[in-house]
Amino acid sequence: MSARVQDARARWQEEQKQTRRMAIALGVAAGIVIGVYAFALEMSPSEVALSLVLGGLGWGLLGAAFHALTERTRREPNGLTAWAPHPYAPHLVLGFLVLVSFYGLLRVPGIAAPLVLGAVAWLATREVLKLREVSRPRTFLAVHGEEGTVPVPQGANLLEALEGAGYRLLTQCGRKGQCATCRVRVREGAREWTQKEQGAALTPRQKGEGWVLSCQVAVHNDMEIELFKPLVLRWPSFTPGQLSDEARALRRALPGFHCEVCGYRLCEEYAQAIAERREPLTRCLPGGEPVRRRLEEIAQALAIPVRPAEEEKEKKGTPSKTGTGAED
Ligand code: SF4
Ligand code: FES
Repeated sequence: MSARVQDARARWQEEQKQTRRMAIALGVAAGIVIGVYAFALEMSPSEVALSLVLGGLGWGLLGAAFHALTERTRREPNGLTAWAPHPYAPHLVLGFLVLVSFYGLLRVPGIAAPLVLGAVAWLATREVLKLREVSRPRTFLAVHGEEGTVPVPQGANLLEALEGAGYRLLTQCGRKGQCATCRVRVREGAREWTQKEQGAALTPRQKGEGWVLSCQVAVHNDMEIELFKPLVLRWPSFTPGQLSDEARALRRALPGFHCEVCGYRLCEEYAQAIAERREPLTRCLPGGEPVRRRLEEIAQALAIPVRPAEEEKEKKGTPSKTGTGAED
């Protein structure tokens, strides 16, 4: 299995260990705080229990509200969110509420106990839940040609896992296993595929090459997969929100084969490079003369300098793949 999948697995195991240590430490600390607090205020066991339950629920609701805010930002990492809170906003509000609770402790002893003990109970519960989440069996997907890995809960659907990571594949038959537009090739981690996973929509040759229908595949082990680029509608590193207006206009003229002949992984990257005046208009050889002419028209309309053909011939060489975001 590729090194990055192994790295991701090692990082996850380390995260599990740390979370476990944290949960134990927090449990012990919570016990001490509750004991000292109850002893100092001479609280009866029933008062302690009531404070823990009521306060814990209150803080839990508050925590759930913050989680919903941050979750919304996390789920849509592709710049498509119309609204997103500042990343520190939940922490600032939480800090403010903690201060208020200590003020309450000094001034209104009646509500202080649920606030303080509830906070302790809530933090401890949250840590335990986090531990459960981190301990859940997980597999890792590496997408060929892309950075990083995609963590996937064991048994999850491959297409949905890719969508969760920001990819969008064409699904012409509505995920019924009949069109093969969602196909991906498993380069590493292939297993015995079922008839559904390598359905009749694939040709015998495609099956032999390791293509599967991602909408039908359940992920049970770590895999490295290759996407069928022409049918990928969105890449996590390139979304309409991240291309400049100029690049978007230029992209419309490119054929969308994502064949890398121009030296870029995606047509979008090449369009962005032209828009940033880093590349000439002649690198899309599969598009030929019609694409070059169309690019020229758009470039002129956008006041992007068009280099004379002789100058471009002299400059032929490795394209400068910087600042496109694909390498992010
Ligand atoms: S050569 Fe043309 S079709 Fe191929 S990736 Fe580059 S722009 Fe896209
Ligand atoms: S969407 Fe048609 S086969 Fe998967």
